[in-house]
Amino acid sequence: MHIGQGQLFELYYDDGRAAARILCSPLLVPAPGQYLLAHDGSDAPLAVPVFQAGPAADGFLAASPLPRAWTPGTALHLRGPLGRGFSLPATVRRLALLAWDDMPARLLALLPSALRLGAAVTLVCESAPRDLSAEVEVQPMKALDEVLAWADFLAVDAERESLPGLKERLGGRNQLSVEAQVLVRTAMPCGALAECGVCAVRVRNGWRMACKDGPVFDWNELKE
Ligand code: FES
Repeated sequence: MHIGQGQLFELYYDDGRAAARILCSPLLVPAPGQYLLAHDGSDAPLAVPVFQAGPAADGFLAASPLPRAWTPGTALHLRGPLGRGFSLPATVRRLALLAWDDMPARLLALLPSALRLGAAVTLVCESAPRDLSAEVEVQPMKALDEVLAWADFLAVDAERESLPGLKERLGGRNQLSVEAQVLVRTAMPCGALAECGVCAVRVRNGWRMACKDGPVFDWNELKE
């Protein structure tokens, strides 16, 4: 974990792919699924979790949402990378990305490593970003079963409150036919510094903190 300065370099109008480019030390760049806590030095009470949406020169692309007050040139105090990100198996050949209830930007951070491993990638979402790489096939939510039957690894982005619906859609207590990990989105105000418990996620054997035990969890851990 590192502490350092960064700067919001540019904002994007179509934030489906990424909301902004942030300049910072390579030591601060969060891996896919990890996050930074960022504060703009204003009197805003809390730092904001920032996720990677992809690589960029001298920093990284950041996924939305970002505070509206952040404009190009905004200096940021950064702490991270924090939490547990995705761990893509080296053997992955058919990667499915499922943006369950939001834009897929946080999942798209996985693209460079998946393509480097030679994996085919299919994104399942309701609205795909416009400037997506041609190497990614996009499918609507109604094709999910078909995509699950094809994939050998599934990466999901879902809000904590949406997990019951996700579990039901993925077969309830039945075994999922594919290895899966879920980025659980929730407020993470203290980033494990104060053990506030706001980010608690229900798992098989009790509760885990998304800020330090996640925010990426194995599917089997989440499944009750
Ligand atoms: S954000 Fe405070 S314990 Fe996780």
